[in-house]
Amino acid sequence: MTVCTSGIEAADPDVLIDVHDVTFEYPAVQGSRVRALESVSLRIMRGEYLAIIGPNGSGKSTLAKCLNALLIPDSGTVTVAGMSTSNPGHVWAIRQMVGMVFQNPDNQLVATTVEEDVAFGPENIGVPTQEIRQRVKEALRSVGLEGMENRAPHRLSGGQKQRVAIAGILAMRPECIVLDEPTAMLDPVGRREVLEAVRRLNRVEGKTVVHVTHFMSEAAAADRVAVMAAGKVVMQGAPSEVFSQAERLQQIDLDAPIGARIAEELRKSGISIPLHVLTVDDLADYISANALTAHRPSANRATELSTNTATARRSDVYRH
Ligand SMILES: Nc1ncnc2c1ncn2[C@@H]1O[C@H](COP(=O)(O)OP(=O)(O)O)[C@@H](O)[C@H]1O
Ligand SMILES: [Mg+2]
Repeated sequence: MTVCTSGIEAADPDVLIDVHDVTFEYPAVQGSRVRALESVSLRIMRGEYLAIIGPNGSGKSTLAKCLNALLIPDSGTVTVAGMSTSNPGHVWAIRQMVGMVFQNPDNQLVATTVEEDVAFGPENIGVPTQEIRQRVKEALRSVGLEGMENRAPHRLSGGQKQRVAIAGILAMRPECIVLDEPTAMLDPVGRREVLEAVRRLNRVEGKTVVHVTHFMSEAAAADRVAVMAAGKVVMQGAPSEVFSQAERLQQIDLDAPIGARIAEELRKSGISIPLHVLTVDDLADYISANALTAHRPSANRATELSTNTATARRSDVYRH
């Protein structure tokens, strides 16, 4: 990587965010400082859907906040499209490019109508009124809330509120959206709505997505998963690569998604199930398409499999 005189690095154009050897400490309340990130290096590619998982306190939120200059590393660098977050002159442009969505939608909604709420960001940066109206319309359409401009945000469901928050970020036309546990406070219906909206933004609109989550089944749907433990990125790769390493995950107190764990047990008993089967839905689809006809197990075996899957499907909803 070469450094130009402008201070903007000429880097791989496919890399949107380059986190290089970042260390971050919070000031101590009493006694020693808390080292939240230690030598973290991670590249986020343009257009990818990256999930970040890890136990509580492993540094996920701290890393997320470093991606759009809400936090600045003590050492190492975070560069967004070649601009360093440590350079105050770049912060404005970086925040336009990388938007953040947090866990609690109630803390992110500021206005009395959905339209005013989504318009808040563009108004603050002086976008002309006519264009704001257009942006609000587009942003609401993108998250499946078309025509809800005049609704009161506080009367919406959790999933709708979180989608209004996402629309507010979209109205700023970012290239990347960082979501820090956006479904943690939602019921299963709200979770599904938000996930579908986020996946659509990535797949259809080409937004780069960084999704911090403690739901393993959500991470399974990403292009790539980075695993954090004790302030470090300890594993990264395709979901099938990461989730097939059950023992390493258990060492840091994480479990593979329940579908992957059942698939692993089935493999041990001689039923070959591909590694890309990770969620309970994947497993149900795979079994109904292949396993029962391919292996033609006894009627009892077939009943056992479908009962396990149904139980797993329920526990996936209720456990998380
Ligand atoms: N504002 C803060 N002040 C002091 N310590 C903090 C603060 N925020 C987080 N930490 C500490 O930094 C570490 C990483 O936290 P965090 O990034 O929130 O992890 P995660 O999002 O994975 O749960 C933890 O030890 C946490 O207690
Ligand atoms: Mg967190």
